[in-house]
Amino acid sequence: MLERMEGTENALACLHDEDYDVPFNTQNLNADTLVFLGGRPTQSLNGDWNFCVDLLDTGLRQKWHTLTPMPAEERGEPYDYDPYVGETVPVPSCWSMLKEKWYFFEGSAWYTRPIDFDGLGVDERLFLRVGAAQYDCKVFLNGEFLGNHYGGSTPFNIDLSSYIKTGRNWLMLVVNNTRTLDRVPMRNTDWFNYGGIYRDVVLFKTPKTYIKDLFIALEADDCYDKVNIEVEVAGSSNVPVTVTCPELAINVQVALDKHGKGQTQVSCKPELWSPESPRLYDFQATLGRDTVSDRIGFRQIKQVGTELFLNGQSIFLRGISVHEDDEFKGKVLLDSDLHQRFEHAKELNCNFMRFAHYPHDERAAKMADELGFLLWEEIPVYWAIDFNNPATLKDAQNQLKELIKRDRNRASVIIWSVGNENPDTDERLAFMRSLVDLANQMDKTRLTSAACLVNHSKNRIEDRLAKFINVIGINEYYGWYDEKFEDLIEFLDNSDPGKPVVISETGADGYIGEGKLEKGFFSEAYMAEVYKKQIATLREREFVKGISPWILYDFRVERRQNMFQRGWNRKGLIASDKKTKKQAFHLLSAFYDELKNGLD
Ligand code: GCU
Repeated sequence: MLERMEGTENALACLHDEDYDVPFNTQNLNADTLVFLGGRPTQSLNGDWNFCVDLLDTGLRQKWHTLTPMPAEERGEPYDYDPYVGETVPVPSCWSMLKEKWYFFEGSAWYTRPIDFDGLGVDERLFLRVGAAQYDCKVFLNGEFLGNHYGGSTPFNIDLSSYIKTGRNWLMLVVNNTRTLDRVPMRNTDWFNYGGIYRDVVLFKTPKTYIKDLFIALEADDCYDKVNIEVEVAGSSNVPVTVTCPELAINVQVALDKHGKGQTQVSCKPELWSPESPRLYDFQATLGRDTVSDRIGFRQIKQVGTELFLNGQSIFLRGISVHEDDEFKGKVLLDSDLHQRFEHAKELNCNFMRFAHYPHDERAAKMADELGFLLWEEIPVYWAIDFNNPATLKDAQNQLKELIKRDRNRASVIIWSVGNENPDTDERLAFMRSLVDLANQMDKTRLTSAACLVNHSKNRIEDRLAKFINVIGINEYYGWYDEKFEDLIEFLDNSDPGKPVVISETGADGYIGEGKLEKGFFSEAYMAEVYKKQIATLREREFVKGISPWILYDFRVERRQNMFQRGWNRKGLIASDKKTKKQAFHLLSAFYDELKNGLD
């Protein structure tokens, strides 16, 4: 049967064309097209969107986006999906969680919705912003391909100004979550490969010339009396950007160079931000009719030798690792989920959280700013990556740039992590060094790290990347994957890192559901025993300056199917119900309580 599609020049040819997706893989929506959102009024596009899974990319082959809306009986040709009618799903959502038949679905899915628009003023632009879509998101408006974005956890913008019509428009987003050899992460992860548009989608307007970026931070010179302000403006402007903060009596004009960029430094002595005193200040930046705002905390994080200093005081990071995962919603997070996360971290007496293994929802770092938690944020350069592939490096660099541009005004974020448990090869070293260099070049106010592996051949900390990062993350599972717990002591004795070490992961599975064991591997008792030994051993080590055990909550993962896991990783200190605490929760909480009260 020969499909005839208006937009498919020769339907038969389209069946034989395996390069069908090349025109739709421009990756032109990236860190360079990000627009600062702080304080801008937005129109939500959340809600019901028409939806269709498309395993074989029939849609891109047949060019479903070229179909125009019309009643079914008026269609003049056969078609395999009509984007304008049919089944709907809520946005944000993960399709994996909506229907049993979509649980493991990996492929493309079409999202379509109307936008009724009242027109653009002469001095207006209209932007679309997608908070996150897992993994590749292609944007079509009124049948025209506008671009695509790679990366499953970072926001992206597209300027619709030249394409939006007054009246009814049709927006189509084609999201593809297939795991491939060239993506970041690649095809093997220890977390569930959800698919979908799982964070907010909004529209917002700006003047033709608008504030594209704003970065405000304390000068990291141990004086705590200078604030640096960087702005970037899109469009032509011969007037400066005005930046104000009434509480600090700041009202400064930032002149722009020919590229629309400007920076200045103002003298002032803000109250410093810290977990104990999360002091934030309200800033506004104005250029003509454009105004953006943000809440800024001022602090200095520094690494000297094996010490970490926050505002000149040495600190120990009392942490916990967290995934973005929910028993019912997958990666979709409500404010209440975030409040629960921080409430549990507080009960653990934490001052630190490792947001693994990808950029979490931007609300999380904003909440950490308000509540007083220090954060490790990370891009998913996880396990095996195609370290030799320039396209993969471009993808990783872009995800890091997007994360840094999105969160560099967040006082809570102290560490940018460029990866997790990658093999120590020449190719990986070159790949990761370029990411560390990029982070240092974009942001001189934070530390860099990565979660490194134990060098098992020598049972010591030895990873060539350690030379280039400020904080050495170490994932060690002595007592679990490394069954001989005593080797941890030898590992620590053998190591002389010369830099602060954060035990970025340690732990054990503890299953507490139906059919649980009273002792042995996967029992709650064994998990507690591992925590007891780890705490007793790690607390003695001078170069260990932080711990973020794996992990706060049990989380979903395809690769774990034994009778205690059944598709879940059970290392959570709290079960997947996000309520039931395991014995180890109380052990860690007590340990951190001692540290917090200086009893250590
Ligand atoms: C690794 C990895 C985690 C994984 C954990 C585990 O260290 O970084 O992503 O979930 O171990 O095996 O539970």
